[in-house]
Amino acid sequence: MSIRQNKAWKALESHRETMRDVHLTTLFEQDGRFDAFSRQAAGLTLDFSKQRIRRETLDMLLDLARETGVEEAVERLLSGRRVNLTEDRPALHTALRLPQGGEFHVEGEDVQADVHESLDRMQQMVEKLQSGQWRGANGRAIKQVINLGVGGSDLGPLMVVKALEDAFVAPNALEVHFASTIDGSQLAELLPTLEADETLFIYSSKSFGTIDTSANADTALAWLAEQTGSDIERIKRHHFIGVSTKPEKMTEWGIAPDHQLLFWDWVGGRYSFWSAIGLPIAIRLGMDNFRRLLAGGHAMDEHFASAPLEDNLPVLFGLLGIWNTNFLDIQSLAVLPYDGRLKHLPGYLQQLEMESNGKSSTNDGEKVDYNTCPILWGEIGPNGQHAFYQLLHQGTRSVACDFIAPIKRYDHIDSAPVRESLERQHRLSLANCFAQSRVLMLGDDAIKSNETPPAHKRYAGNQPSSTILFETLSPESLGALIALYEHKVYVQGAIWNIDSFDQWGVELGKKIANEAADILETGQGADQLDDSSRHLIETVLGKRGN
Ligand code: F6P
Repeated sequence: MSIRQNKAWKALESHRETMRDVHLTTLFEQDGRFDAFSRQAAGLTLDFSKQRIRRETLDMLLDLARETGVEEAVERLLSGRRVNLTEDRPALHTALRLPQGGEFHVEGEDVQADVHESLDRMQQMVEKLQSGQWRGANGRAIKQVINLGVGGSDLGPLMVVKALEDAFVAPNALEVHFASTIDGSQLAELLPTLEADETLFIYSSKSFGTIDTSANADTALAWLAEQTGSDIERIKRHHFIGVSTKPEKMTEWGIAPDHQLLFWDWVGGRYSFWSAIGLPIAIRLGMDNFRRLLAGGHAMDEHFASAPLEDNLPVLFGLLGIWNTNFLDIQSLAVLPYDGRLKHLPGYLQQLEMESNGKSSTNDGEKVDYNTCPILWGEIGPNGQHAFYQLLHQGTRSVACDFIAPIKRYDHIDSAPVRESLERQHRLSLANCFAQSRVLMLGDDAIKSNETPPAHKRYAGNQPSSTILFETLSPESLGALIALYEHKVYVQGAIWNIDSFDQWGVELGKKIANEAADILETGQGADQLDDSSRHLIETVLGKRGN
């Protein structure tokens, strides 16, 4: 049975008729919206008063959560049940964040012991690198690290390192770089700037079979061999760490067993920076800060597990997304951080949300008859203001926005005049954040005026938004923020009755790309393809004029 047959869903459908034409300006005529529609947990404040809801909207959404079994779904996730149905396994990213000392058995395995053993091995590697004891093939100390990985094996570590390295870099931190793209553009730019004898690569791949990453590893090997003059086996032993769930594949490739870090099938790729995939984070920020990140995620997990639905941040955040997507027909979600350090957050959340909930078949094998994941995009807010906000303010589309900002910044800057000037810049940034969400909400009514402006100067407003504030951007607050989004995605997946933990949609493209790669390498077989693809390939092969 489709969730559209659900009583609460139907109630929301009729409620939508009464809400469709109600402007946020009208909703704000009643005072007290912030108190009614904001909550705090794990150091985060979520203000959702600028969403197009009334008290009864929220009540009905909470009914929907109850009727669709969100509480039971949360319990299933956190107790290690097999919530990833198509791959028949649990999703235990929350276990990666459990503090040391307890036990957490899943299907006979003490998951918590495995997790902490892996963290300890990570710590040993980080210490060896940071103390200069890790030597390259020619005996020189390693000074920089390049992470080779793509998707979850890249986006999480990249996002966290860039978010925290200004204020939380470890005292003996090594330089950390990231190379992900199959076309090799990052390596092509990086390699000429680095000293091969002092460079270590992390071959980071859950499956250890992703061609994007193996192609980058091949280029890294070619470079190391040429620059160090050492043989390939020795290079692989001294210049590579492997992080994967597949030890046998790492060994076969040539990574020494004591340079392998393992994680487990029950960690989804897009949830994996909390595991050994987070090694670049620990190398750059130090293991203590990595553990603080885990603690921030765990604080949100505890809240998610224990808070009643009406106060539960991830549940509320998820329900608001359901309201926008399924009832107000808003299919676009912009993530707008007002902090340049969060530049990579929208890209990270794109994988988290769209790979998790970009699905159209239900857990019962039916095609959904409702929308699922919205299109998520975003950019640093203040820069977006000078680029795409025009469309948010005066275009024809409804877009929901997430504004994200720390309350304080720059405490760690020693120079007083520079700190004061930067602090003023942060205040300017916050002023813009609050102004934008206000104008998006109120439109023309944001400014009292007796004159009616011409059409091209009018602002319709009524674009809904949430604002997330936290005291400072720290390992703890970032951990809590990411866990908030993770659990929101799970809540939405539970309501939409889809599997948030598989990603079958990326498989066919990989297969077809392999076929195309063979044709490009051999020059044979293009005639089997469709007219467009054949001609494109023949153009590349020089068999046609261009
Ligand atoms: O193709 C999609 C995907 O499987 C993602 O889910 C994953 O994060 C990424 O590729 C990289 O996979 P791996 O870590 O196995 O190389």
